[in-house]
Amino acid sequence: MKQIEGRVAVVTGAASGIGRGIAEAFAAAGMKVVLSDIRTEALEAATKAVRELGGDVRAIAADVSRAEDVQSLADRTLEEFGAVHVLCSNAGVSSGRSLLWESSLEEWDWLLGVNVMSVVHGIRSFVPIMLAQGDEGHVVNTASMGGLITGSGVVPIYMTAKHGVVALTEALQDQLSTQGDKVKCSVLCPGYVASQVRDNFEILRPPGVASLADALEGKEDIEAGKQAIAQGMPPREAGEIVLQAIRDERFYVLTHPEWTSMVEVRMRGILDGTDPARPGDPPSSDPSS
Ligand SMILES: NC(=O)c1ccc[n+]([C@@H]2O[C@H](COP(=O)([O-])OP(=O)(O)OC[C@H]3O[C@@H](n4cnc5c(N)ncnc54)[C@H](O)[C@@H]3O)[C@@H](O)[C@H]2O)c1
Repeated sequence: MKQIEGRVAVVTGAASGIGRGIAEAFAAAGMKVVLSDIRTEALEAATKAVRELGGDVRAIAADVSRAEDVQSLADRTLEEFGAVHVLCSNAGVSSGRSLLWESSLEEWDWLLGVNVMSVVHGIRSFVPIMLAQGDEGHVVNTASMGGLITGSGVVPIYMTAKHGVVALTEALQDQLSTQGDKVKCSVLCPGYVASQVRDNFEILRPPGVASLADALEGKEDIEAGKQAIAQGMPPREAGEIVLQAIRDERFYVLTHPEWTSMVEVRMRGILDGTDPARPGDPPSSDPSS
């Protein structure tokens, strides 16, 4: 997208973490931003903070797993700003390390609803508006490095969902390219970014979804997982990477290029016909270690 200033962006999952970082980067670049989230109090607080950066921002609550909420988010954005140029379908929830044959259907429904169907609803509600506008537009879907690698020991339902987001966005890219060159898309595959994703799992998990403490993870694993996220990239930095990718019209957006070796290992295994291996720990971002 060549023109950024004055454009209208919608960011889901904007009450904390990466979504809030994206909203901050957009507002600082002079965009009009709609922050959306299911946690209304946290959404109001984040919107106030982003507004203080000087942006023209609004808060619109929505549960992205519900098609009618996402449609209403699109309708209300048009009422507020008269157009929409950028959609970041970013809201997501992680999962624990449950055994697949013991995972509840409630957990599958929740994880696929919030991580995958949200992206479907975003495409169905927003892309027709962007195409009809005849102007530049961009859709950014948040997947994960977990959408590019696999591994039985990690978080299988989450990874299944995020692989879906990558495949879906690759298909969107192909289909948009047949509709002219104005509306583009990207898939964001972050490594560790400091966020509240683990806490929000516990706050938002519906009845029937086991707490992380009851999943396969021991207390030490839970602590290690929290630490890895807490020490991750600052969310605003991830937001700036997203903004630059929109400017550059880049499709695959990786926040941690040093993690690509894990993708190579998986692809090599596929080509060589070996069994899938656990990806192991991600390579350190610190070249000295
Ligand atoms: N933080 C990381 O290291 C990391 C790595 C890879 C991918 N991701 C992905 O980045 C995205 C943002 O996650 P984050 O890490 O910033 O976590 P986060 O929990 O801080 O932010 C996610 C936001 O999504 C919201 N949300 C959850 N369910 C929702 C629903 N049904 N409707 C609307 N909003 C809902 C939450 O309230 C929260 O504010 C997610 O899609 C996540 O899977 C994060």
